Amino acid sequence: MRRLMVAGNWKMHGTRSSVAELLKGLKSQEFSATVEVAVFPAFLHISEAVEALRGSGIAVGAQDLATQSAPGALTGEVAASQLMDAGCSLVLIGHSERRQVIGEDESVLVAKFKAAQEVGLVPVLCVGETLAEREAERTLEVVGSQLDSIIDALGVEVFTRAVIAYEPVWAIGTGLTATPEQAQDVHKAIRDKLAARNAEVAQGVRLLYGGSVKAANAADLFRMPDIDGGLIGGAALNADEFGAICRAAGS
Ligand code: 13P
Repeated sequence: MRRLMVAGNWKMHGTRSSVAELLKGLKSQEFSATVEVAVFPAFLHISEAVEALRGSGIAVGAQDLATQSAPGALTGEVAASQLMDAGCSLVLIGHSERRQVIGEDESVLVAKFKAAQEVGLVPVLCVGETLAEREAERTLEVVGSQLDSIIDALGVEVFTRAVIAYEPVWAIGTGLTATPEQAQDVHKAIRDKLAARNAEVAQGVRLLYGGSVKAANAADLFRMPDIDGGLIGGAALNADEFGAICRAAGS
């Protein structure tokens, strides 16, 4: 049985005071022990989140990391080992905002994935197609090739210590959610693709769905057999809404 995971990606949001409020709100939520809960604050707020959430069972992750795992002379970057030292256990890799806006290519993502695992951080690899790619019926080809970059470079076994998040770009921040069936189809294709290389890895890896998940649609998504939780953006900035999504995963 895969343990469901619900993670909040706070993106470039939050001030010291709004983050303090959000952390206070999260600590007052009831979470089911069957669900793993995590938050990904901006770098600036990681220490505060780690301190505030100590003992709560909520894990803290980072939204990015440097391509090299060890500290060194690399102005503006944050090393995987520094994230571990700060109390992170997870890190997002390949979010569409970093692929598209920052321009991170597959070789950068492979290096980041490797750097994370070198120090024991669990990468959450984000994959997903644009609207134009979906309309051209290229969804599985695009998602497949994003996975292949990691598999070809590092081997399929790296997914025993990683999580995959399917986030259709057209559903991120748009209020347009993939239907549970649309999401399930892609999740099943991802699991089948991994299973063709290693059935055990495919059975164990958690596949999260992300893209306009809210308390109102979470339960229908999480009910699908290959959807093992969610990666939540906007709705994760409200503790009650995020708590309700986590409870939907536990029900
Ligand atoms: P929204 O939930 O705001 O659509 O964002 C999803 C996302 O990008 C999470 O990483």
